[in-house]
Amino acid sequence: MGKFVEAARIGDLPEGTMKEVSLQGHNILLARVGGKYHAAENICPHMGAKLSQGKLDGAVVTCPRHGSRFDLKDGNVVRWTNFPGPVSTIARVIKKPQGLKTYQVKVEGDRIQVEV
Ligand code: FES
Repeated sequence: MGKFVEAARIGDLPEGTMKEVSLQGHNILLARVGGKYHAAENICPHMGAKLSQGKLDGAVVTCPRHGSRFDLKDGNVVRWTNFPGPVSTIARVIKKPQGLKTYQVKVEGDRIQVEV
């Protein structure tokens, strides 16, 4: 069991947005969707792109590099890369779908805290 660490203030994260935060050596994607906060690893398990630079659609983030999609509620893979290039085709075969590590989030006052 980890320790809750302040990641942001509520005002830093408008509804429907996400941001990258660095907490004690963890690169974390923090998102606010439907008034709830979600935290997951920010590094795509496919080939390492920063998911915070991708697109957020509801609680699903799309990787900016090859289009893998992950549900931030539980880290599950919604779609593994669909990039049509030959390198990604090979990478898709070699690298099996892998979900994101997620983190517990709690809010105290206007402080969003993540358990790391
Ligand atoms: S690096 Fe994210 S889908 Fe390839």
